[in-house]
Formats: sequence, C-alpha cells, structure tokens
Amino acid sequence: MTLLLVSNRLPISLRRIGNRLDVQPNPGGVAAGLAAFYREYKARWFGWPGEVLPSETRQVAARLEKEFDCRPVFLPRKLARAYYAGFSNGTLWPLFHSFATYAHYSASEWDAYRAVNERFADEVVRGMKRSDSIWIHDYHLFLLPRLIRTRVPDARIGFFLHIPFPPYDVFRLLPWHREVLEGLLGADLIGFHTYDYARAFLGSVLRDLGLDNRIGAITAGHRIVQVDVFPLGIDVARFGSASVAPTVERSLSRIHKGRGPSKLLFSVSRLDYTKGIPQQLEAFGRFLEAHPEWRRNVTYLLAVVPSRERVAEYARLKREIDERVGRINSRYGTIAWTPIRYLYRQLDFDELVALYRASDVALIAPLRDGMNLVAKEYVASKREPSGVLILSEMAGASREMREALTVNPNDVEEVVAAIARAVTMPPEEQAVRIRAMQERLRRYDARTWAMRFLERLDEAVRLSEDLAVKILSEAEQKEIRLAYRKGQRRLILLDYDGTLAPFSPDRDAVFPTERVVRVLKDLVSDSANHVVVVSGRPRDVLDKWFGGLALTLIAEHGGWVRDRGDSEWKATLSLDGSWKGRVRPVIERYLDRVPGSSLEEKDFALAWHYRAADAESGAFAAKDLVDVLTTLTANFDFQVLPGDKVIEIRRAGADKGTHFATHLGPEPSDFILAAGDDWTDEALFAVLPRSAFSIRVGFAASSARFNVESFADVVEFLESLVAAKR
Ligand code: UDP
Ligand code: G6P
Repeated sequence: MTLLLVSNRLPISLRRIGNRLDVQPNPGGVAAGLAAFYREYKARWFGWPGEVLPSETRQVAARLEKEFDCRPVFLPRKLARAYYAGFSNGTLWPLFHSFATYAHYSASEWDAYRAVNERFADEVVRGMKRSDSIWIHDYHLFLLPRLIRTRVPDARIGFFLHIPFPPYDVFRLLPWHREVLEGLLGADLIGFHTYDYARAFLGSVLRDLGLDNRIGAITAGHRIVQVDVFPLGIDVARFGSASVAPTVERSLSRIHKGRGPSKLLFSVSRLDYTKGIPQQLEAFGRFLEAHPEWRRNVTYLLAVVPSRERVAEYARLKREIDERVGRINSRYGTIAWTPIRYLYRQLDFDELVALYRASDVALIAPLRDGMNLVAKEYVASKREPSGVLILSEMAGASREMREALTVNPNDVEEVVAAIARAVTMPPEEQAVRIRAMQERLRRYDARTWAMRFLERLDEAVRLSEDLAVKILSEAEQKEIRLAYRKGQRRLILLDYDGTLAPFSPDRDAVFPTERVVRVLKDLVSDSANHVVVVSGRPRDVLDKWFGGLALTLIAEHGGWVRDRGDSEWKATLSLDGSWKGRVRPVIERYLDRVPGSSLEEKDFALAWHYRAADAESGAFAAKDLVDVLTTLTANFDFQVLPGDKVIEIRRAGADKGTHFATHLGPEPSDFILAAGDDWTDEALFAVLPRSAFSIRVGFAASSARFNVESFADVVEFLESLVAAKR
C-alpha cells in the first residue's frame, strides 16, 4: 500500500536560473505540514508544479519524480489561471475566510476549476493501485474525492481542509455550494483543524443535502463518511534542532549586531488580506504613539512573503502595506533607529529560524486563519524558554496555544495593550508559558497528526466495508425466497413509515399506495402467513388504512395491539394521561421556536415532529428537546424516543419488540421476516431469534442482518415473495 498525497502545490518548485533548474521549497502551511513526514511514509505526491514552459515539462517531471517522488500535474497556462488565481483564490479563499465581499463568482472559472479537478482525477487514477490510500488536501480540490470515487468505487480516500469552513450563511453564497459538498462526500474521511469548522461543515451537509450525522458519521448512499478534527502540528524536532545549527547561529549574530539593547518584535506571513498585516502595523504605530518610552527601544521586523500576485486584492494590499510602513518609519524614525524593518521576500529556513529565536515577541494577528503554523514554529524554535507569542483568537492555532496572549485583531487597543504587556513580561512568566506550549507541540506534531488521520481513515474504510457486506444481495434475496417457499407458518413483521412508504412532511394527508395494499392483501391471503404491521402511528390511522385486512396491527410503538382475529384494540400500557399536562407546555415552546414543527397527541405519547422545519434548526432543537424531556421525566417511568425527524415521549413498558417477545415469538413459526427503518425498530430486531431475516431500510448501523436502500426495495421484495409462492 502506498500513500498518495494530492494537493495543488508540491512541496518544492523548480525555477530556471540561467541554464539550470533551481529547487525552492514552497511557502504555506500545506507544503510545510506534509513535508514533515512524506519522505518517511515513502509517499508519492501529486500536485501542480506551477507555470512551466512546455519545452521543459519532461525535464521537470523527470527531476521531480526521481529526486522528490512527486508527480506533477501540468496545466495549460490559461486554464491554470482561471482555476488558481480565479476560482481557488478569487472565490473560494475569500469566501471560506468569511471575506465574502472579496469573492467574485464566474461561471467560466468554475468550469476551469471542475476541469482541473478532472485532470487531477485522471492523473491519480492512472498512478494508483486499488490498495493505495489517497489523501487529498485543501480547497483547490473539493471535487476530487467524488471524481475518484466514481472511477474507482472502492478507493480509500481521505480529505483534509487546511482553511476554515465558513458558517452556512456565508457558504451558501457560493452558487455551487451543493456541488462542493457532493464532491467532498466522495471521501471516506474528511478532516478539519477545529470543531468549529467541522460543525459548520456538518451543518451545511444537513441543510443542503438533508443528511444528518451521528457523532460525525454521515450516511451518504450506501457509504459512511466520517468527519473528524485533526489540528495540524509542525515538525517540532526540525525547528528544535535547527535552532542550534551553525548557519542559524551565524544569522542570529548578524541580527543581534545592529540591534543594541532594543527589543525585537517579529511578524512573518504570506502577503494575504486574511493575515491582518495593516492592522498589525496600525497597532504598532499606536503603541509607539501611546508609549513614547519605547521609541528607539523596540524594532518591528515585518517579513512578508510574496503570494498570489496575480490576484487584484493582493496587489492592492501590497501597496497599502508599503504606505503604512513608510508612514510609521518617517513619523517615528531617527537617524539611528528605523521602527520597522520590512522584508518583502521569501526567507530561507535558517534565516526564519534565526528570526524566531532572536525575537522577543511574535505578533501573529490574522483576521482569519485555518490554523497558522508560524505561531507554532515560533514557540518550537525557542531554545531558551523566553519570548512572548501574541496570537489572534481568529487563528485555529489559538485553540491549542492557550498560553499565548490572545487578541482580537480588530481591537487595535487590545493589540496595543498586548504588545505593551509582552515587552515588559517578566522572564519567569515567559518561561512558564513557552514551556507549556512547547510541551503540547511535542505531544502532537505533524507526524502524530498524519498518523492519527491515517488510522482514522482505516477505521472509516472498515466501517463502510462492514456496511457494504450487509447490503441485501441477490443471492441472499434468493435464499430468503427459498426459506419462504418452504415455510408452513410464517411471521412477517413490517413497520410502515419509511419501510412501506416514503416520509411526507404532511403526515396526515398520506395513504398507503394501491401497490402496498395489494401486496399486503396477497400476503394475508396465504393462510400460512401471519402479517403484523408494527407502527408508531395511532390506532385510528392504522384502522383507517388497514382495518379491512386480516393483519395484526400494533399501534403507538406497542402501546395498542389488535390481533388479526379480533376487532378490538387492547391497551398494553396504562391509559392515565395526566402526565401530558406537564409535558405539553414544554413541547409547545419548541413549536414557537421552530417554525414548521408540529405536536401530535396520541393515547400514550406526545410527539414533536420537525420534518417540515428547516433541517438544521430542527435537528439542533431536537437535541435540546431530548435533553429537556429526559431531565423532566428522570424520576418517572418514561421513555424519550428520538425517531426520524420526530421526538416522542411516552410511558415506558412497551416497545416495538414487546408483543413479539410475549405473544408472537412463543408461537411456533418456521419463517420470520421483519423490516423497519428507524431506531424504534431496533427494539424488534433485538428480540428476534437468530434464524429470523431482518432488514433495515437505509444504510445506518443496525442489529438487523441486512440493509436495503429504500422503502421501494422492501415493497419489491415482498412482491417477489408473493410471486415465489405462485
Ligand atoms: N514560510 C516559508 N517561507 C517564508 C516564510 C514562511 O516557507 O519565507 C513557511 C512557514 O515556516 C510556515 C508556512 O510557510 O510553515 C506558513 O504557514 P501558515 O500556516 O502560518 O500560513 P499559510 O501561509 O499557510 O496561510
Ligand atoms: C495556504 C493554503 C495552501 C497554500 C498556501 C500557499 O496555506 O491553505 O493550500 O498552498 O496557503 O498559497 P499558494 O497559493 O502559494 O499555494
């Protein structure tokens, strides 16, 4: 098994200098994060090598493959621009960082994005073996999981998003938001840096595709997609050991030389409007204004790495930064002291580590950032436990770096105060904070991150495979038909909603179809069959639908039973409904909060239905209501049943399995078949003998022996049983 990494960027670029190709590491979190382990894993890396002259593609490909195990995905220049500068960085990047006004929407760029994802799929599928694990990275390749899945249905695919996932109201601005989610759901595992991003993603899946999740597991078709959180770490050992390398020491002494006794404040980031560089400059200017005693005693070293220069917002930002730096330097500078030393270029690794080590304070205040590795690298590079990290609470890293001075980057005064606190922080306090953060970084570095992700991917694939094994196959259908034919006393137990009919938002307006009534009639006309409808519906509804058929009817999840020979219903629970007076007002509060939801009153139960409500607010309120009802009835004998878009509260004492356990089970039968679609049907599956055939509609985990996709499969299968006896 080989690990295939797939990302827009490869870890390095090859650039022509004179007549040779020069190797340069690529900036950015993805290249840095994966480079930490990909060699050890002997991973193969697929990515775009950047703009390469057509005459050089062969040479570049050969070198990338031989020396770096990289497979370049070459893109024609025009296509690459529409995909990279256009859709990826002119639409997705701003939108996903909640800079909605910076995003533009172009159908032709979307087409280019799709076409590039197709090209990546071609390359990966061509270069993969079935047993390989494919790990796709970042927003440039949202469609790739599904594209690969369509071509290789049993591929093992993981996806990790390195940037934030935005709240639904921002995400839905994208005209192609559904396509993005569908693309992603082709993966077996989808990873995010933080819980907030994962929650936002799950919320969008629910609202756009109507797919709910159970502890992060989404059932999509007949596959399970896991969603989980993996905060990216850094190569701690590399930064730790580099900080004592002779080359770093030399850089360090150069930095110290011109510095005198003054303090060094340091920021480094790509040129990006998400990084909050103008705000950092403003805060530094205000700090000098408010704290004249620090003039000449602190220098701000601002390193900005060129990035995405073709995107208009980036060019504008560059001008703004230049101007701000110029203004502060000319206002506060002296002949001997320049307040801001400004570098606009990529730093080499030694230089970067030397700056991390040398600086007293790192000011890292992005307006929004998926993770931010620079913050972690700064801390990891500190040999002596000194230095202060000022970190924006809008960076994913702030969830882990609890000992940093956390700031809201939009609150300039707060940032000014943090700078003032940082430059005067006692060494003992610095040491305590740095050590605690270093300890955490060591425990969860980039390798651990990758390992955890890949272990979870294995688990996710196994779960999907287990489910696939349970899908009712042709051969198994045949086996059941054979057993049916041989049977002399057969028992057939069927749930109704979701099992014999689809759900409808208006539950009272639906009737069983003619086809369903016919198959039930056909089944009961065989005297060897005892057919039982086991439903959560009230008895009058079942009477209306099926009263004329010789069926045993079980209503209200076992609360009422009408045996096929009887015309009377028998209650299995106490009919005292005085408890409802206490519970009804609680549910009524939820009716107001969740428009479209409704209250159903049954003899033994009150049910709150939210199928017709907005999917996300319904699901959210449902979790809340379950908690409230469970607490309310904790000391009483009640059951709270969360079903499919319904929460039911009822007296305990009977469930869908009870009548089977007490009456039907003990009767002799040589063929038992049960079908249901819901959590409440599990009570029946659980009490069936091992020889029974049980079918769960939908691909959820279940104690039933088989799963089928929809109610239509059940109806068709019942018809085939009838036909088998003719
Ligand atoms: N980096 C780099 N060259 C530089 C400056 C920074 O390669 O001149 C690296 C830095 O070490 C870090 C990455 O670029 O690993 C930046 O990652 P981060 O998550 O902080 O931000 P991103 O650029 O991915 O948004
Ligand atoms: C961020 C993105 C990466 C990207 C990096 C550098 O970290 O999440 O996917 O590679 O920035 O940006 P660039 O456009 O130069 O690849």
